[in-house]
Amino acid sequence: MKKALVTGITGQDGSYLADFLLEKGYKVYGMVRRNSTENFERVEHLRYSIQFVQADLLDQMSLMKLIREIQPDEVYNLAAQSFVPTSWDQPVYTGEATGIGVTRMLEAIRYEKPDTKFYQASSSEMFGKVQEMPQSEKTPFYPRSPYGVAKVYAHFITVNYRESYDIFAVSGILFNHESPRRGKEFVTRKITDAVARIKYGLQDKLELGNLDAKRDWGYAGDYVKMMWLMLQQEKPEDFVIGTGKAHSVRDFATISFNAAGFDIQWEGEEMNERGIDVRTGKTLVVVSEKFFRPAEVHHLLANPQKAKDKLGWEPELSFEQLVQMMVEADLKRYEKISK
Ligand code: NAP
Ligand code: GDD
Repeated sequence: MKKALVTGITGQDGSYLADFLLEKGYKVYGMVRRNSTENFERVEHLRYSIQFVQADLLDQMSLMKLIREIQPDEVYNLAAQSFVPTSWDQPVYTGEATGIGVTRMLEAIRYEKPDTKFYQASSSEMFGKVQEMPQSEKTPFYPRSPYGVAKVYAHFITVNYRESYDIFAVSGILFNHESPRRGKEFVTRKITDAVARIKYGLQDKLELGNLDAKRDWGYAGDYVKMMWLMLQQEKPEDFVIGTGKAHSVRDFATISFNAAGFDIQWEGEEMNERGIDVRTGKTLVVVSEKFFRPAEVHHLLANPQKAKDKLGWEPELSFEQLVQMMVEADLKRYEKISK
């Protein structure tokens, strides 16, 4: 039985990856950091199938001990401070967890089990102020946030350990991927959660920032399989994973409201733009300055050709299906609460 250690197990991707690895017959160890209350909502259904182990990316010795004791065949490093706006408020912490934390894990592997295969959760946020359209493995990075900068460090330290110590270490440069398990501060889930709350009269309207930002959004459940496939290749290589299609925040909101039976129309411009329900004249969306970022990443679009050729990558869920799935899940959740 192969052993996999997954950091960030309580996060969106960790929970989907654990589902996938268990199906593949792995023994899964899920790394959790100490919290005053348990935070197992996304992995509740796996509580007795995963072995939870405690450590922290900020603590070198805890990682050494983990690798020594588990002797994993594969490590998936998904843990990070992953919310871009927080990285402006806590840039040093973000650098420690999202950047240097990766070096700590790689050191633990180098000293305790150097034949462990290592997956690093790299990000399209590294492309930032994009240098070409669409973005591939060869596109130069230009990060626009402390989070993006930390991910670039993490990316290159992974390349460096591969080249210096012959560790099977790869980076998956993943574009935005979403699901009903997405954190509610990220824009997609913020929208679908608000749509459901408005539908059930629990919220009046939704405040958003830059409606023109465009992302290449895919489904998290499709993406975790690619993480695993990257570690099953003969030689360690980095891959871009995305759908090759981008949509704006405004598009995402429009489709979400439509999916819940609203007929939304956009009026006004920039800071005064509003989403109005055509049938009732009620304002559903307003733009608020507080959700704008000091430096925006305007347009991310993947060129996933390498993953298509070498990993057989083909996303199963379309953008419209993804939005529908997220809206339906939130409607169901609030239907139960409102009864
Ligand atoms: P997420 O839902 O925010 O989960 C982050 C996980 O990291 C949580 O389990 C969190 O634990 C854990 N964590 C944070 N700091 C830690 C520390 N110091 N020590 C140990 N664990 C720590 O993120 P996600 O969306 O699943 O993303 C997974 C990874 O992929 C992240 O590295 C993210 O930056 C990267 N990524 C995500 C996307 C995307 O679109 N989702 C795209 C590209 C790259 P707690 O539950 O205790 O907070
Ligand atoms: N969060 C949020 N809230 N974003 C908003 C809002 C809002 O109210 N209004 C507009 N946006 C815009 C942001 O300005 C950004 O351009 C876009 O929506 C997406 O924001 P997020 O959903 O917060 O995601 P992100 O692209 O910044 O980061 C996510 O994807 C990265 C991969 O590119 C995270 O998952 C990162 O961890 C990941 O690396």
